[in-house]
Amino acid sequence: MELRILEDRTALAEATADAVEFAAKDAIGRRGSFSLVLAGGTTPRSAYRLLAERAHRIHWPSVRVFFGDERCVPPDDPASNYRMAKEALLDHVLPGAVHRVEGEIDPQAAADRYEKRIRDAFAPDPPRFDLVLLGMGEDGHTASLFPGVVPEESARLVAPSISPIRSRVTLTLRALNESREVLFIVAGAAKADTLARVLAGVRGEGPADLPAARVRPADGDLKWFVDRAAASRLPEVAGG
Ligand code: 6PG
Repeated sequence: MELRILEDRTALAEATADAVEFAAKDAIGRRGSFSLVLAGGTTPRSAYRLLAERAHRIHWPSVRVFFGDERCVPPDDPASNYRMAKEALLDHVLPGAVHRVEGEIDPQAAADRYEKRIRDAFAPDPPRFDLVLLGMGEDGHTASLFPGVVPEESARLVAPSISPIRSRVTLTLRALNESREVLFIVAGAAKADTLARVLAGVRGEGPADLPAARVRPADGDLKWFVDRAAASRLPEVAGG
């Protein structure tokens, strides 16, 4: 696991955009295409804007865009992860494909259709994302895997998920843990306690009970990019 502590949200966005650029060039150079899973929420928005500004640095027609999760709302709803990514990034670049989750239909049907789209996109190979961006909530959720309601390991890559507020559709732990690289981006003091608990779990120094701590790619890289405020309770920063 690689942990990077960035000074502030601006530095976090720059490091994230750099990491996407590096992974894209590497994947396109080696395999001819790059599968990128976008995170929802608000933290990644500035990194997406930066990627849009630097659009020329990535060969976007070779990029296939997916989403880690979606809220069950129409694609133009202010809560839609697709809408956020579209406005910040996708309207400004020309990806080879954009595979969104249909938040506007029944969650189980949306999960079934999204899973099929993923499998079709990778066929005849088994699905394996090159880079998955993830955020983390104050309760330790990631994508739409919430404490106590994580769909258990199964053959599924996508599952409906009931969040405290609304229905969602999410990639499963299996799909995340089969990826080549997972990059968490976390900012803000409100997440400091949870981050300390989750990283202790990831490092085997505490229970890996929260969903974010259970994302550990079996044969891939795991990176956590966090800002100084979020890192304030980590042993290496707090001196604990
Ligand atoms: C979502 C997510 C979710 C998010 C975290 C962090 O759709 O809400 O994908 O897992 O990444 O809740 O969200 P913030 O970046 O807004 O804090």
